[in-house]
Amino acid sequence: MSAEIKNIAVMTSGGDAPGMNAAIRAVVRTAVFYDRKVFGVVKGYDGLIHGNFITLNAQSVCNILHYGGTFLKSARCLEFKEKEGRQKAYDSLKSMGIDALVVIGGDGSFTGAHVLYNEFGIPVIGIPGTIDNDLAGTDFTIGFDTACNTAASAIDKIRDTASSHERLFFVEVMGRDSGSIAINAGIAGGAISTIIPESDITIEDLIQTLKRGTGSDRSTSLVIVAEGGHLGGAYQVAEMVKPLLPDYDIRVTILGHLQRGGAPSALDRVLASRLGVAAVEGLLKGAFDVMVGMINNAIVYTPLETALNSVKEPDPEDFRIAGILAI
Ligand code: ADP
Ligand code: F6P
Repeated sequence: MSAEIKNIAVMTSGGDAPGMNAAIRAVVRTAVFYDRKVFGVVKGYDGLIHGNFITLNAQSVCNILHYGGTFLKSARCLEFKEKEGRQKAYDSLKSMGIDALVVIGGDGSFTGAHVLYNEFGIPVIGIPGTIDNDLAGTDFTIGFDTACNTAASAIDKIRDTASSHERLFFVEVMGRDSGSIAINAGIAGGAISTIIPESDITIEDLIQTLKRGTGSDRSTSLVIVAEGGHLGGAYQVAEMVKPLLPDYDIRVTILGHLQRGGAPSALDRVLASRLGVAAVEGLLKGAFDVMVGMINNAIVYTPLETALNSVKEPDPEDFRIAGILAI
């Protein structure tokens, strides 16, 4: 274990995700377990630039495991994208005697951590926390399971009213560049079709699929649309479909930020706990400029550069399954 790393800072950055608190707790308690001092950075890179630190101990993270959001707050910080901003952040870390930084966030936050390491040599390690599940180097990101559960339970409720009125619903889920939530929520919610950024489905394909079921109860159908879908969001897709299916009674629901909130699922709490422990243990063993993830239920450290330059493709098996089940 590295004797040089005595003081560790932890922060959350970018879009928040359920389970971030559980990850902070795991980082803090593991650092304390190994007799290290821990600081929390409030408001991500903005807090780093402005020296917004709080001292944390094992008690500071009592009773946060089960809460959504992040008690350290999160932020998006343009100043950190500039070299002067990162210089200020590095100066803040040094003035507090901080030797290493744990960043819980998504690809943007990891890009920032990677640049900080390259410019100043400060040891960094990333913990993937984003509902989008769009990071290579881990099977799942913290918050994804909870977001899928939230979306599935909302879709169940929409199905009740859709069925009563025999309506076609377009339900938009989050995923600016990734269809992970959409494809999973689509399978879990029994959608007839799912439109995601990574697919090439056309409006004609969609109309064919929707018409296929006419005559049964298929005028009651749910289509899941990822917000970054290649045909546009749910409103845009619904507008394209309306003139082609004039007999259908069409409605649109945008699930939005409710998918980012709520108590983390047990799976997300366990994932966050495992990754938090592994992040601190990794740092103490000299794993710098990497992201910690779980692949096939084992801890894996992936260089940030590799994780950031790899694209996580949706599993084609999910499309196959969704297609079979929607006949
Ligand atoms: P996420 O981490 O969820 O992907 P963002 O993309 O908003 O969220 O990134 C979070 C923060 O990471 C940004 O507000 C910025 O401070 C920092 N960041 C993102 N991209 C860069 C970059 N190219 N260089 C330095 N910092 C970056
Ligand atoms: O956390 C990722 C994400 O949920 C994306 O799917 C979405 O586009 C984005 O955050 C929206 O976040 P915000 O409203 O905070 O910019």
